Amino acid sequence: MKQDRILIIGAGGQIGAVLTESLRTAHGTDNVVATDLRDPGPQNGPTQVLDALDMQALGEAVQHWGINQIYHLAAILSATGEKDPMRAWDINMRSLFNVLEVGRQAGLAKIYFPSSIAVFGREAAHYQTPQHEVLIPETVYGISKVAGENWANYYFRRYGLDVRSLRYPGIIGYQSMPGGGTTDYAVDIYHYAVKKQHFECFLGPETSLPMLYMPDAIRATLGLMEAPADRLTVRTSYNLAGMSFTPAEIAASIQQQAPGFTISYKPDFRQAIADSWPASIDDSAARHDWGWKPEYDLDAMTKDMLLHLEQQYRS
Ligand code: NAD
Ligand code: SER
Repeated sequence: MKQDRILIIGAGGQIGAVLTESLRTAHGTDNVVATDLRDPGPQNGPTQVLDALDMQALGEAVQHWGINQIYHLAAILSATGEKDPMRAWDINMRSLFNVLEVGRQAGLAKIYFPSSIAVFGREAAHYQTPQHEVLIPETVYGISKVAGENWANYYFRRYGLDVRSLRYPGIIGYQSMPGGGTTDYAVDIYHYAVKKQHFECFLGPETSLPMLYMPDAIRATLGLMEAPADRLTVRTSYNLAGMSFTPAEIAASIQQQAPGFTISYKPDFRQAIADSWPASIDDSAARHDWGWKPEYDLDAMTKDMLLHLEQQYRS
């Protein structure tokens, strides 16, 4: 069987930094090329500075490295996107078109493109939001993800390009920092707890959102990409769930292990974004089609986050 050769776009981001290492473990270090707009820093494998808006450079990189799969992670996230909607639309859509077109022209075997819970809006069921639900997002980020999902589906149906996608919830991990989303508070809070600092949360205490711990997010991504194509019934993007919690609940989980930790609340513009998103997600299609099952709940994640961050801040 031919060895996969993978190009990651946005490898320096919150998810890309961790996914790159996992893909290198799974496929061999030299078979995974980490690219980003900015220098991804010291790496133990091939890297390239690459602007995903430059289609010619992307096509040349695919040829140069002998690539047969792209993981396209570059995007402007929900909160940053609202500060300059036209820029967010341009970057999110143009980069995706370039990836899909290069994928089609080069005959790539598979493409991965993450979507988000941001595709849902207030019209969608708030609890256990189903896979096939009305999609009226209120952020430019969400609009770009709905459009992206439909283009992924189009390239699959029209050209047979094997594009796969997950609607990630908020992703939480200790290895990297988040890049401008509405769920970022759930990473920041652990850093404040370990540094023994008071945390002021930009969402209110009762705002429940779907979240996923990084190891589960990576397992889900690899699981979807390894699944036999004929098992996949969703070619827009799969709902994916891990846990749901409010800022008050994550604070209580931290306080069990760090009793002195304190939190206060000062909601800003991100509150309205969070209020437009589901509180929990029905991911039964992913469970049925390719065997998805999360491993971490809130307390298990808290224990692991605090353990690793304490080690990081000590060293
Ligand atoms: P991030 O903001 O941390 O990283 C994005 C990376 O893309 C950055 O390193 C940035 O430099 C790079 N980038 C931006 N523009 C680029 C361009 N033109 N060319 C090349 N690289 C460019 O994002 P993330 O949190 O790692 O998210 C990765 C993907 O997962 C995104 O598509 C995002 O929408 C999706 N997602 C993330 C979350 C989450 O909670 N992190 C949740 C749902 C979906
Ligand atoms: N975590 C992401 C955000 O908040 C969800 O896509 O933007």
